Amino acid sequence: MPRNNALTERLGLAVPIVQAPMAGATTPGLAAAVCAAGGLGSLGCGTQPVEASRGQIEEARRLGARPLHVNFFCHAEPGAGAGGDATRMRALLAPFFFERGLGEPPLPALPYQSFGAEQLALVEALRPEVVSFHFGLPEAGLVEAVKAAGAMVWSSATTVAEARWLEEHGADAVIAQGAEAGGHRGTFLGAEPAHQPGTMALVPQVADAVAVPVIAAGGIADGRGVAAALLLGASAAQLGTAFLRCPEAAVHPAHRAALAAAGDDATRITRLFTGKPARTLRNRLTEELLEAEDEALPYPLQLSLTGPLRRDAATAETLPLWSGQAAGLTREMPAGELVRRLGEEAATALRRLAG
Ligand SMILES: Cc1cc2nc3c(=O)[nH]c(=O)nc-3n(C[C@H](O)[C@H](O)[C@H](O)COP(=O)(O)O)c2cc1C
Repeated sequence: MPRNNALTERLGLAVPIVQAPMAGATTPGLAAAVCAAGGLGSLGCGTQPVEASRGQIEEARRLGARPLHVNFFCHAEPGAGAGGDATRMRALLAPFFFERGLGEPPLPALPYQSFGAEQLALVEALRPEVVSFHFGLPEAGLVEAVKAAGAMVWSSATTVAEARWLEEHGADAVIAQGAEAGGHRGTFLGAEPAHQPGTMALVPQVADAVAVPVIAAGGIADGRGVAAALLLGASAAQLGTAFLRCPEAAVHPAHRAALAAAGDDATRITRLFTGKPARTLRNRLTEELLEAEDEALPYPLQLSLTGPLRRDAATAETLPLWSGQAAGLTREMPAGELVRRLGEEAATALRRLAG
C-alpha cells in the first residue's frame, strides 16, 4: 500500500486505514492489533467514566498501540426539564421490561457527560496522537488545550457545511461520515438524517471544500471500498462495522450473529435507543416502536431509559445492533489479519485500475 499522503506520513501509518472508535465496542486489544498491522487503532471513550478511559488507554499503550486515536463526545447536554414528560415513552417501553422481569423503566437521567476538564486532564496526562470528537467540537479553549497536548484534533462531518465549520473551528482533519455509516450520525448542524449524502457523494465534495485531510467513513468494509475512498480524495478510510466481528471487539454474541446474517437492506436509522439518529440492524424493538420514533427523549436521556434492556439482553430483540450498510461484506477474523487483508485488497484494486 502506498504511504503517500500527509496524514499517513504524519502518523507513520503503513496502511491508510483507521479502525473507528466505537464506544462500548472498542478495546485496548483491538486498537493494539490494528496498530501492529500498520493502521490507526482507536478507543471510543465517549460513554464511559474517565477512570475507565484511563485504564483502557494505559492498557492499549502497554500492548504497543502507537499511534493511538481516542474519541470523546461533545453533545449539547439537555437542560433541566428538557426531557419533558417521559411518561409516554416509559409506558411504551414497559412491556419489554415486564416480560424480562425488569420492573418499571427507570426515570430519565444523564448517563454521561460531554468532553470537559476531566477528559482534558486525561488527554494531557496520556497524550494520544489523535483526539477525535463526535457531534462537533468542544469550546475553543478545550480544542486549543488538546492541541497543546500534542494531539491532532479530528471530528466527523455529515455535510459539506459541517466540514467547513470544523475546519474553521480548528479541526486538523475531517472525517466525512456518509449516510451508510453504522452507529450515530456525527451531525451537529441539524441536517435531517433523510437528507444526508452517502459516502460516494460526500467525500469528494468535502475534499473540495476543505484544505485539511479528509478521512472517509460509512459503508466501507473491504479493500475495494478503501481504494474507492482514496480515489474520491480521502487520505484514509475509517471502518467501524467491519471491525465488530473481530474477536478483539467487545460485541454481544447476539449482535455478532445478527451482523453475520445481515444483508444490504437490514439496517434502519432510529432515535429509539439513545435519542440521536443512529444506524442499527432492525430488531423487535425498532419495529414494534416504529410509530413512536418522534417521541424519543432528547439524547442522551432516551439512552438512560433503554439502558436496562441493553444490560439484561440475552437476545438481539432489544439490543442496539449498531451497523452500517456494508454488514454483508464483513468478515470474522482477527483485527491484524483484517487490516493486512484490507491493505492487500486495496492495493490490488488500485493496481488493476492502473492497468
Ligand atoms: C458500534 C459502533 C459504535 C460507534 N461509536 C462511535 C463513537 O463512539 N464515536 C464516534 O465518533 N463514532 C462512532 N461510530 C461511528 C464510526 O466512527 C464510523 O463513522 C462508522 O462506523 C463508519 O461506518 P461503518 O460502520 O459503515 O464502517 C460507531 C459506529 C459503530 C458501528
